[in-house]
Amino acid sequence: MRDIMSPDAERQRALVDAFADLARLSGYGHIMSPIVEDLGVFLRVGESTDVVTKEMYDFEDKDGTRIAMRPELTASVVRAFVQHNPTSLPWKVWYEGPQFRHEKPQAGRYRQFSQVGIEVLGSDDPAVDVEVIALGWRFYQALGMNEVTLLLNSLGDESCRPQYFEALETYLRDRSAELSEKSQETLDKNPLRVLDSKRREDQQIIAEAPLMVDFLTEDSAEHFAAVRSGLESLGIPYEISPRLVRGLDYYTRTTFEFASTALENAQNAVGGGGRYDGLAESLGGKPTPGIGFALGVDRILLACDAEGVFPAPDLAPDVFIVDLVGGGEATALADQLRQAGIAADRGFDGRSMKAQMKVADRSAAPWAVIIGETELAEGNVTLRDMYGDSGQTLVSRDDLVATLTAKLAN
Ligand code: HAM
Repeated sequence: MRDIMSPDAERQRALVDAFADLARLSGYGHIMSPIVEDLGVFLRVGESTDVVTKEMYDFEDKDGTRIAMRPELTASVVRAFVQHNPTSLPWKVWYEGPQFRHEKPQAGRYRQFSQVGIEVLGSDDPAVDVEVIALGWRFYQALGMNEVTLLLNSLGDESCRPQYFEALETYLRDRSAELSEKSQETLDKNPLRVLDSKRREDQQIIAEAPLMVDFLTEDSAEHFAAVRSGLESLGIPYEISPRLVRGLDYYTRTTFEFASTALENAQNAVGGGGRYDGLAESLGGKPTPGIGFALGVDRILLACDAEGVFPAPDLAPDVFIVDLVGGGEATALADQLRQAGIAADRGFDGRSMKAQMKVADRSAAPWAVIIGETELAEGNVTLRDMYGDSGQTLVSRDDLVATLTAKLAN
């Protein structure tokens, strides 16, 4: 697990702020749920997935309850929905925060990583699918990312999945001897997940496997067609990806992934989501359709680096105070400037002019205020233009805030 330091931490926060703005513009409320949940909440979303069976940080709490640090937020949000039973539907929420998966760490894959995401419960209108996918797409655009591909699939619903599962299982069992050992194990738990194998020996078999899209009932096919035409009408390009299976078990109908072509293939998913029309019920609630996505903050920032967009915010203060007199003068001035909304940093420890000027330089502040003994005795301080060509002037201490405010406004 990593420490995220300044200015990367500010950059991450700016990304979350940008996401919050978009979510608010689309009518999503913020939800903050606990980082730990009862283990059972997650077991129900992925009993055949690595995320839940192998990678979860779960442990016994002091009272003997088994709890887990969340590997994802959809299960927590749906648990909250069932628990609080909001009456106004659809219920639309956004979230952000750390997730925990005990994966093998590498570039773009961490044991603690951050997601931003949204979930909508209580509607299966394809227009909701379009709204959700569009919000993700517009977010990448807002960050300035151009190299994102939207991959789209439908996994059908309870009326077409059994037939497909049977066809897929029969096919895979026929060829099971050719499958990797790992996929043979997966086949016993959930045939669909075999399609997610990245192992080379499985690829030919996967390429020839029956496809869910060929098994969709009329209802599911119509729903999928409405989602596609909705995206087209917004000018959002997509690729149909008939073998796209996601890493969690709850998905039904619309599923999607955002892949960055600016990143290495293995870790190029910068987000993903889909419908989970059966999840609320399996967590003890009334049958309620749902859809959402989560976007990987760490990976998005790597992709932004690769594309040269969304740099870290400028953290330079507006002014740096060089204190050559000691006492409370610099403290009072810094306080006054900050109250006036001027970002001010300062030197400490009575260091030499040269040493403090070095720090001022490093801070990248456009202005330095030098408090010197003789000037101060006459009620003045020195204002130095650090980068421009107005050089250095004496300014009355009493006028300093007004003078700086005017200069910074220019
Ligand atoms: P997920 O595909 O497991 O979906 O994760 C979403 C995104 O989180 C990934 O596309 C990736 O960008 C990022 N991510 C996942 N694991 C890691 C990791 N170890 N290190 C860095 N980034 C990672 C979900 O979590 C679902 N809850 C999405 C969803 C919401 N489905 C419906 N609603």
